[in-house]
Amino acid sequence: MSSLISMIENGREAGRKTVPGPILLLGAPGVGKGTQAKELVKLWGIPQISTGDLLRANVARGTELGKVAKEIMGRGDLVPDTLVNEMVAVRLQQPDTVNGFILDGFPRTLNQAGWLDGRLSGQSESLPVVAVSIQVDYNQLLRRITGRRNCPVCQTIYNVYMKPSAVDGICDVEGAALVQRADDTEEAFAERMRVYAAQTAPVVDHYRGLGRFAEVDGDRAIDVVAAGIVAAVERLRAE
Ligand code: AP5
Ligand code: MG
Repeated sequence: MSSLISMIENGREAGRKTVPGPILLLGAPGVGKGTQAKELVKLWGIPQISTGDLLRANVARGTELGKVAKEIMGRGDLVPDTLVNEMVAVRLQQPDTVNGFILDGFPRTLNQAGWLDGRLSGQSESLPVVAVSIQVDYNQLLRRITGRRNCPVCQTIYNVYMKPSAVDGICDVEGAALVQRADDTEEAFAERMRVYAAQTAPVVDHYRGLGRFAEVDGDRAIDVVAAGIVAAVERLRAE
């Protein structure tokens, strides 16, 4: 039995029930925010809100936002705050967010963090945000990013080195041909890391300063990392 599943079973036996509320998954490109968000969705039944996925969907649909975002994303820079905040505002109005949500890739500037904090503090019924920062070292991230492949149908995330599909290049679930993200080149990765250090590391410090913050080692098996995040959220929610 995986450690995540056994943790869930133990929790059920103990009669514990975590109301997850708003959760932020923070961390550099490739730390596993998307992979972990999908594990937490299965456990808690709250939605993953990935600003990267929402922006890529806009690019694919050729919307006005997608036309602006495409080139910016391709070179590894950030889409303007006002556009991203507006996109998140629309998504947060969906009724599936009522018991909580997992924000993956947002906020990543202090401006976005200020906007989010203001928005959530205006909702008296909302639990305070819990922030989890996932840590993985640079060389491992480079390998993760250059090896990543995604299913364009079900969005399952693979890695040719560390989490390969059963048949090379084909999704295990959908049978669709896997694709590589346009920004998963070494050059774009280097720019994304530079932007992370300059603009998103201060966001991590912001949430560390507010409390209800945990750091999790992301350089372990996927279910072990997930169990670490669940334990951190349960601990922070119980405080
Ligand atoms: P976004 O899509 O958010 O990209 P990112 O932050 O760079 O993060 P990634 O999605 O690359 O990595 P991840 O942490 O999700 O890792 P994953 O689980 O896939 O943003 C893309 C772009 O959109 C930005 O550059 C920007 O232009 C724009 N954008 C997005 N949000 C924005 C915002 N708020 N404001 C402005 N612009 C914004 O895992 C990576 C690989 O590692 C996979 O292959 C996976 O299989 C493997 N892996 C994961 N976990 C493990 C593990 N434990 N062991 C081994 N392998 C693992
Ligand atoms: Mg991601």
